[in-house]
Amino acid sequence: MARILVADDERSLREFLQILLEQDDHEVHLASRGDEAIKMSNETEYDLVFTDLRMPGKDGLEVLRSIRDLWPETQVIMITAHGTAHDAVQAMKLGAYDYITKPFNVDELRQQVRLALDKRGLLRENVQLRQQLSEKYTFGNLIGRSDRMRQVCALLSKVADTRANILLTGESGTGKEMVAKAIHFNSARAKKPFIPINCGAIPENLMESELFGHVKGSFTGAISNKMGLVEGADGGTLFLDEIGELPLNLQVKLLRVLQERKFKRVGDVEERAVDARFIAATNVDLEDLVKRKLFREDLFYRLNVIHIQLPPLRERKDDIPLLADAFVRKFARESGKDIRGFDAGAMACLMNYDYSGNVRQLENIVERSVTLESGNTITVDSLPAEVRSARPAPAASFSGMPDTTEFPRSGVDFERVVEDLEKRMLTWALRETGGRKTEAAQLLRLSFRSFRYRLKKYNMSGPDDEGD
Ligand SMILES: Nc1ncnc2c1ncn2[C@@H]1O[C@H](COP(=O)(O)OP(=O)(O)OP(=O)(O)O)[C@@H](O)[C@H]1O
Ligand SMILES: [Mg+2]
Repeated sequence: MARILVADDERSLREFLQILLEQDDHEVHLASRGDEAIKMSNETEYDLVFTDLRMPGKDGLEVLRSIRDLWPETQVIMITAHGTAHDAVQAMKLGAYDYITKPFNVDELRQQVRLALDKRGLLRENVQLRQQLSEKYTFGNLIGRSDRMRQVCALLSKVADTRANILLTGESGTGKEMVAKAIHFNSARAKKPFIPINCGAIPENLMESELFGHVKGSFTGAISNKMGLVEGADGGTLFLDEIGELPLNLQVKLLRVLQERKFKRVGDVEERAVDARFIAATNVDLEDLVKRKLFREDLFYRLNVIHIQLPPLRERKDDIPLLADAFVRKFARESGKDIRGFDAGAMACLMNYDYSGNVRQLENIVERSVTLESGNTITVDSLPAEVRSARPAPAASFSGMPDTTEFPRSGVDFERVVEDLEKRMLTWALRETGGRKTEAAQLLRLSFRSFRYRLKKYNMSGPDDEGD
């Protein structure tokens, strides 16, 4: 059942539509003037509106405009008299769904209503889907649409607002610190401190006092009472970076904080309570350290309540164009340059590079390229040499192709070999880019049009071919 408004100054026509639409179980409201229709549609969201073109008060185009502005998903069908088709076409340009001409054909009218409501339903679903997607698959400022990152973001949304300890693992530069901050700033603790500690950077003899604080005179150099980082994170989040580097004697003390939420300042007798959320990160294999007795097993399990593994960039290549574009915008803005992106060759190199330093390395590469580029688009020449040489090898040396100018004496089926190679390149490019045709075309350094032409030629275009 839909809610439908009928606006027409001709009473018999309003009544006719009312009877017909109510028979089909719709809720029907009536207006006899344009200004009345606008007023009613300002107050109620209709699924469908029939409006006469010429009416007292305001005309049908104004009704259409007002509804367009307020309820873009509402479908509008114009009612026209013979000889006013021109106005009706005008109305469709302004966004009307369709028009009907008096006198009505009942079957046709019913069909139009059904189609208009179908469209309305689809628009609705789309909006809802988009909303759900953006809620579910993005998190904080994290950039990434690959399946792997979507899984990570979905998990982050679930755990952010709990108190569960989290262990973040992943190679250097995969975004562990960024994720830790995103968790904090998307939790109820956001207004309290986020305190990062790099467990590998503080000298061992100072570590305990850094973490837990000390009282005056507890050791040489302790000239006054001092609060530690754990205490500073009260109410907020403590981020224990490079947790694998924490010395064993401090692991015991940290375990106590995790278990009992209590600690002592160095040299103090008084126990203090702390309410902090703990997020730890490491790029080493903690379980291996546990096996080698370099990391306490009990502490490992305490920290590892929720494990989030950040995938290396080379395993989520579909995120490269997104990240690279975001970084270009950032560095172009910072340096006051008008650079808008990468040309196809440069993007192909970026896609093909291996990134041992992951997102951080990509960010550095983009920053450098922005500095060197003098045009509006980053070209291969502005990329660092090692990235430039990641340019995909020319087709002739693709695996499986004979790397020779010699062919069997019996001859080769030229067309078939070339076709086969073309198909393999198309398939490869689609797979590399998760099916994104624009990016796949860039990888093959083809124009989008020519890429699409080839997909069609080999019957490889999906049903959404026009949508890319
Ligand atoms: N998903 C992402 N979206 C946007 N920027 C990201 C993303 N992941 C990482 N970055 C950026 O990459 C850089 C490195 O990230 P971060 O410092 O969080 O990595 P890390 O895993 O802590 O690395 P390390 O182990 O070397 O400390 C940062 O500048 C961060 O902003
Ligand atoms: Mg880090």
